[in-house]
Amino acid sequence: MSNICWGEPGGVRTNSDGVVPSPDPVVSHQPIRDIAVGQRHGSGIETDDRGGDQRAPKQRERYQRGQDRKAHVLAIVVGIAGEFERVVSGAERASHVLDRTGRVADLRERIPRRIAELEQTAVAVSGLPFVAAAYGLLYERLDVEVTNPRIRLARLAKAFEGFRIVHLSDFHIGPFMTADEIRRCVTIANELKADLVALTGDYVADDPSAQGEVVQALAGLRAPYGVFACLGNHEFYTETEESITRLFAAGGIRVLRQERAPIQSHGEVLNLIGVDYQQMRFSNDHDGHLVDRYLEGSEKLVMPDMVNILLSHNPNSFDRAAELGIGLTLAGHSHGGQLALSFINRGLALVRPETPYVSGRYEKSGSQLYVNRGIGTTVIPIRLGARPEITVFELARGV
Ligand SMILES: [Fe+2]
Repeated sequence: MSNICWGEPGGVRTNSDGVVPSPDPVVSHQPIRDIAVGQRHGSGIETDDRGGDQRAPKQRERYQRGQDRKAHVLAIVVGIAGEFERVVSGAERASHVLDRTGRVADLRERIPRRIAELEQTAVAVSGLPFVAAAYGLLYERLDVEVTNPRIRLARLAKAFEGFRIVHLSDFHIGPFMTADEIRRCVTIANELKADLVALTGDYVADDPSAQGEVVQALAGLRAPYGVFACLGNHEFYTETEESITRLFAAGGIRVLRQERAPIQSHGEVLNLIGVDYQQMRFSNDHDGHLVDRYLEGSEKLVMPDMVNILLSHNPNSFDRAAELGIGLTLAGHSHGGQLALSFINRGLALVRPETPYVSGRYEKSGSQLYVNRGIGTTVIPIRLGARPEITVFELARGV
């Protein structure tokens, strides 16, 4: 028996013959030549007492071929696995390289994340109209803005330098514009302490029976030079033009219906004109000629050599007013578009196809137009990008 010397210096285990033994001390006692097959219990292979294979040569050959096939299949599996590992690791390296270049991230992680982000964005975008509508209904619709443009007029008499006019329009009294809300606007207007108040139509919406209530609320307006008004298309549609004019008169408000009112101060005059809703621009006369119907018959109301200020609900009459030499036209009707992108451009509004005059001041041929955004709403009770407006003008001499 060989001498086994464990724990030799250098950590190499050898026997006295210099042979490296098996780590298993039991196995190390077996002859090296039989270890390959002789020690596998339960493998179905018969061995003699020395561990030798006692099978027939054909069996051994078959057995060896089987072993070879197993080894071959194993080699193929290992090869495929190796190729797969190389492909995967190559893709990962490429992904990281592309990620470093900023072109493509780790797609396996980013694609699902991107889809989730898109889903969240879609939910937010689809909810945006509802949020905007709620804002326009509950907040902006009642968020009155007081604007104070200075208007220069070439023919303004010295006595009217600094004359102040408060302008309100388009109340549309109804469930979404109550008499209390209108009275709140009356209070704001009175606190501005203007010299004169101008109203430019659409006091009712669709209910003619509401005319008494809106007149009662507006009768609280006060100004030393008076409160003047013209009528709008909703007075025409509800057939309240006559009745509301009488109610306004009883409440101390003068409605100008194709009329003028000279406003006098220190012996000088400012000519104030008012017309009903101008609904049709062109029509044929008796001879079949196309005639401009805007401000038809108002020529005689325009006074030369003094400032003429026109109250006309429809801003589209401005072109004709400019032709007649009217210095300033005050209008409403557009509601500033009501749904508008005025923070980008005041022309980006729903009413744009109906009129080029959406809100604010316009100038043409030495004549000016101011379109008030109104107090109430029409069709839908929402305002977006078009706050309700009370305007207080300050008149100045010059151009
Ligand atoms: Fe109108």
